[in-house]
Amino acid sequence: MTNGFTARDRAWHPPALTPLYKTSVARSPRFAPIGAATSLSEETGPVFGHDMLGAKDNDLITNFAAPGEMAIGPRILVQGRVRDEFGRPVPHCLLEVWQANAGGRYRHKKEGYLAPLDPNFGGCGRCITDENGFYEFRTVKPGPYPWPNGPDDWRPAHIHVSVFGHGFAQRLITQMYFEGDPMIWQCPIVGTIPTREAIETLVARLDRAGSIPMDALCYRFDITLRGRRQTMFENRMEGM
Ligand SMILES: [Fe+2]
Repeated sequence: MTNGFTARDRAWHPPALTPLYKTSVARSPRFAPIGAATSLSEETGPVFGHDMLGAKDNDLITNFAAPGEMAIGPRILVQGRVRDEFGRPVPHCLLEVWQANAGGRYRHKKEGYLAPLDPNFGGCGRCITDENGFYEFRTVKPGPYPWPNGPDDWRPAHIHVSVFGHGFAQRLITQMYFEGDPMIWQCPIVGTIPTREAIETLVARLDRAGSIPMDALCYRFDITLRGRRQTMFENRMEGM
């Protein structure tokens, strides 16, 4: 780890207009951005505490399930640390996650994939980092799913992750992929990221030391907020 300052690398983030990712054509700005000053409430709030979380918030296997039931799919733990640019842990950091079920289907009224819903799987959860920046949630491994982009494009299995700082203006959003998944390298959204190095920051590693025998495999996904090892955030257009 270094104490050196890391200058912003504006080439780190995908360009806004990437036509192979079709939606980017309509979403990319056509005019130069206009700066807007943030208000005091955006800078100072909200402040999250562990007492805001429900007991099952970090367990997607049961947090939507009927009593005694569980979500269907490969059971996994996702663990990691949130760190700043100097490798220091970031405590009390709220992570929200959302994902498709094990068949690749979202519980959303606009979902267009024919894979079935799992009646015991909602697809959202949240957790807060502890004093050491450590977080953990339990879920089922999401399935890949097709999406209307090119004639036959599929998203690799992924979990969406939102990281809140101390204020609304500090929200960072990214997607976590799974080590060894060949679909990562075929995805038009992943393909908008300029470098393999940046993509690798989004790939969770299988962590056999963290698995629970006869229960769940563990994937490790560390998040670095800034600097040389920064995780690629899809909403952070200015780069590192
Ligand atoms: Fe998704």
